[in-house]
Amino acid sequence: MKFDIITIFPNIVEEYINTGIVSKALKKGIVEINVHDLRKWTSDNHKTVDDTPYGGGPGMIMKIEPIFKAIQELKKENTIVAITTPKGEKLVQSKLKDFSLNQDLHMIILCGRYEGFDQRIHDNLVDYEFSIGDYVLSGGELPALVLVDGITRLLPGVLGNEDSLKDESFNDDSLEYPQYTKPEEFNGWKVPKVLLSGNHKEIFEYRQKNKKIV
Ligand code: ADE
Repeated sequence: MKFDIITIFPNIVEEYINTGIVSKALKKGIVEINVHDLRKWTSDNHKTVDDTPYGGGPGMIMKIEPIFKAIQELKKENTIVAITTPKGEKLVQSKLKDFSLNQDLHMIILCGRYEGFDQRIHDNLVDYEFSIGDYVLSGGELPALVLVDGITRLLPGVLGNEDSLKDESFNDDSLEYPQYTKPEEFNGWKVPKVLLSGNHKEIFEYRQKNKKIV
């Protein structure tokens, strides 16, 4: 599984992927992630990646040329070119699961900035436009990381405890049940008795009953 993330803020992305679960997956060689500075594919002295919109209006638009060059260089036969946009398909757990099952997945992720991309990028260069929710962020770095993290943690061998994935209620479209750890009582707030009972059937039933369905 390989990701090429294209951004004008590589440091934000590097920092996240080199921490925690994703960095473990990188070290184990389960996933390969290359972070690219989009400005690498500019040809002017100012390394321009954005410009004003034709027809006027506020904000700046991501230019097509550097993105076109980046894709040309990085794209292979089976590559999915993804783009972050609040107008895209809403990312859901089942989609992450589908991606995670594709061992040969190679994905280029274009992180948006400014007011969006030149429409010709959407129309001609992209396979998958995704949103992480109905709100507008100042850039696509967080959505890109959400996608990479959400897929990576599902890959075999990434989470220390494989059971935590099997059990994870997100996989059957529901949220976790409530969990507790020591101490049994804190500040007068107690752990439900059933969880201390050792009765596996009752614990299972408690968890089923208290799962939060999405
Ligand atoms: N870029 C800005 N907001 C976004 C969102 N909610 N999802 C994906 N990309 C975005």
